[in-house]
Amino acid sequence: MLKLGVNIDHVATIRQARYREVTDGEPDPVAAARDSEAAGCHSITVHLREDRRHIQDEDVRRLKRALDIPLNLEMANVSEMVSVASELLPEAVCIVPEKREELTTEGGLDVAQARSRLAETVSWLQALGIEVSLFIDPVPDQIDASAEIRAKAIELHTGAFAEAFKRDRRSDATDEALERLSDAARQGHGAGMKVNAGHGLNYRNVLRLRQVPHLTELNIGHSIVSRAVTVGMRRAVDEMLCLLDD
Ligand code: PXP
Repeated sequence: MLKLGVNIDHVATIRQARYREVTDGEPDPVAAARDSEAAGCHSITVHLREDRRHIQDEDVRRLKRALDIPLNLEMANVSEMVSVASELLPEAVCIVPEKREELTTEGGLDVAQARSRLAETVSWLQALGIEVSLFIDPVPDQIDASAEIRAKAIELHTGAFAEAFKRDRRSDATDEALERLSDAARQGHGAGMKVNAGHGLNYRNVLRLRQVPHLTELNIGHSIVSRAVTVGMRRAVDEMLCLLDD
């Protein structure tokens, strides 16, 4: 069965809309994470952004203490975040590109271009026992470069597929985006890397994404947190798990 990592960033987005100055505002991302864990998800993901627009440092510390399932920390490849990861030792780190003006992570890393800086971070964090994945577009050069710098895992950016699906799920563009993801997954798996995927996945498009081979884990945030507003976190996670399970 495909594993599910629940990204709870947007629980913190709602909290930060009202409670910037205090540490016990609602809703609490740690409570959402524990409900997700109780529903049976396989890991919890948070993105500690440099501008701290949603998840705060203290959230990551509390999650690390509260969870029995792995914590996956998404972060930019900057020294401040490498220090945070080295101190908190999450089970997994996903390195993502980060632009302050973007609403969400808009594209994958350019591993080929930032090869030496990424290689240093990957080997440092992996030596600490952290599983490091690189968030990349499903492009052959990026997969080659990820394997060359010895990343143990990649996370394929599913945003182009999600956009095409949103416009027209039966279009050639949707089929082509799925083909690119399938080719990328085969290439990454063939190179010995674990292949995860995420971004823009929801209760509708995930059924098509399941046909991509060799995927280990999907990281899904916005759609689960949105559904949780009406049905609660446990049921929202449970419903997604049912879709991932045959
Ligand atoms: N994976 C990565 C690397 C991301 O940056 C994000 C967005 O923060 C997600 C998965 C989850 O995307 P979404 O919120 O659209 O499900």
